[in-house]
Amino acid sequence: MSNKFIVVEGSEGVGKSYQIKIIERYLIDNKIDYILTREPGGTNFGESIRDIILNDDNNTEELTDSLLFYASRYENYKKIILPALDAGKTVVCDRYHYSTLVYQGIVGNNSSVKAIHEIFDAIYSKMIDHIIYLYTTPKESFKRISKRSVTDKFESRGLSYLEDLSNAYELVFNGMKNITKIDTSEDKNITKDNLIKSLDKIFKKK
Ligand SMILES: Nc1ncnc2c1ncn2[C@@H]1O[C@H](COP(=O)(O)OP(=O)(O)O)[C@@H](O)[C@H]1O
Ligand SMILES: [Mg+2]
Repeated sequence: MSNKFIVVEGSEGVGKSYQIKIIERYLIDNKIDYILTREPGGTNFGESIRDIILNDDNNTEELTDSLLFYASRYENYKKIILPALDAGKTVVCDRYHYSTLVYQGIVGNNSSVKAIHEIFDAIYSKMIDHIIYLYTTPKESFKRISKRSVTDKFESRGLSYLEDLSNAYELVFNGMKNITKIDTSEDKNITKDNLIKSLDKIFKKK
């Protein structure tokens, strides 16, 4: 069983954090050596950047946010992701460069961000083995986020923003290779079964 780089992507409240716990359980049960990292974040530098970007008081431009995301991502990639892959570990990453394309590029309608994606996509997507794309309806996302006591800058933008995010994710991921789309609208056990099936495929257990 060779090590993999797995990216978990999707809009707000689709269940990335929740499903990643199931992925971790799967990796532990199967004795697969792994690390979990997240975007923005990963390194101490990245976590500091995360605090700046997600703070609603910083009224920053889409391109400013994107450049910060990219700074955080490059550190995470060089210092955490690549060394772990080189050491034979599986890497699970909560969000990746597709988030910047979706949020700031497509929904934020910023052509510079889209151009930056084109440049960096060659670097970042090269190492990815599989994308787990989680999806639920924008209404369901909204319901789930509304239950949170603390929401960040992006989570607090309302239903129409969630609809835009959802459409943009479809646009980016539709027809892409090495991707599994999992609907999390259903019962958590159904989602879990689908997730486990896709992990079995990724790790060629079946
Ligand atoms: N099938 C499901 N899969 C994942 N989460 C679900 C599901 N059904 C309901 N939920 C709930 O939706 C919320 C998802 O939140 P979270 O995992 O933090 O999303 P994200 O990290 O994508 O923003 C959790 O409160 C979880 O209990
Ligand atoms: Mg999360």
